[in-house]
Amino acid sequence: MNQIEQFKKLKTEVTRFMMMYQFALNELETKIEILKEEFQFLHDYNPIEHTKSRVKTLESIMNKISRKGIPFSLEDMKHHIKDIAGLRITCSFIADIYQIRDMLKNQFALKVLEEKDYIEKPKPNGYRSLHLVVEVPVVMSSGRENVCVEIQIRTIAMDFWASLEHKIFYKYNQSVPSALLLELKEASDSANRLDLQMERLNREISVIKENQSEDQLEDITQILLNNKQFKLPQALLELGNESQ
Ligand code: GTP
Ligand code: MG
Repeated sequence: MNQIEQFKKLKTEVTRFMMMYQFALNELETKIEILKEEFQFLHDYNPIEHTKSRVKTLESIMNKISRKGIPFSLEDMKHHIKDIAGLRITCSFIADIYQIRDMLKNQFALKVLEEKDYIEKPKPNGYRSLHLVVEVPVVMSSGRENVCVEIQIRTIAMDFWASLEHKIFYKYNQSVPSALLLELKEASDSANRLDLQMERLNREISVIKENQSEDQLEDITQILLNNKQFKLPQALLELGNESQ
């Protein structure tokens, strides 16, 4: 094989490799869209605020493998770098995060390989999120491939904090002044307090709503029973007498 042919072959292999990760993300996003719509239908509530996905650039993959001393081959990249494809799911409440995690775990076509709970155990700098590494089956002309995707699930407040921290980290070229680090940690604690407060308020509102709908149901039943025009079907009345 001459050099041009060799180069073309390499280019095709790399492009297919990168496409595979994009397909895995497309598959996962479709699954999540279905879960979201079904959940909305069943519970009249949507636990997902928004999702964002990205495939790492080739340059960034190269940097990571050289940093970690991983051999330079597609097979090794696939095996060792689990965040080539990444999906971030943002939700309103902490409880939603675990609900989404459970929904993903119940998907028979997905295999959860890894779970890191930085909410239960935040990083020392204050970083909070739930990380999953899942394996998504992707069918291509060459056959079926199991492709890893890193999923980060977090609340809006956690996301707000992480994006600011990320900007500061890069602005200071990764050596952030200690006063700022302390402030970031405090900001993370405030964000957490906000999350807990919002969650508590949401629970209280849900209880009020439930009681309201129960009261309404009782009111409607009373109105119907008091209404002389309204007659319960005989079969239902008999059923009521039997159970007494
Ligand atoms: P990597 O080899 O860097 O992927 O480390 P890891 O495998 O230990 O991954 P970990 O699960 O700790 O974090 C992976 C991703 O989570 C990162 O690429 C970031 O997107 C995000 N992340 C983790 N820690 C932080 C943090 O302290 N600040 C912010 N802003 N993001 C973080
Ligand atoms: Mg990682």
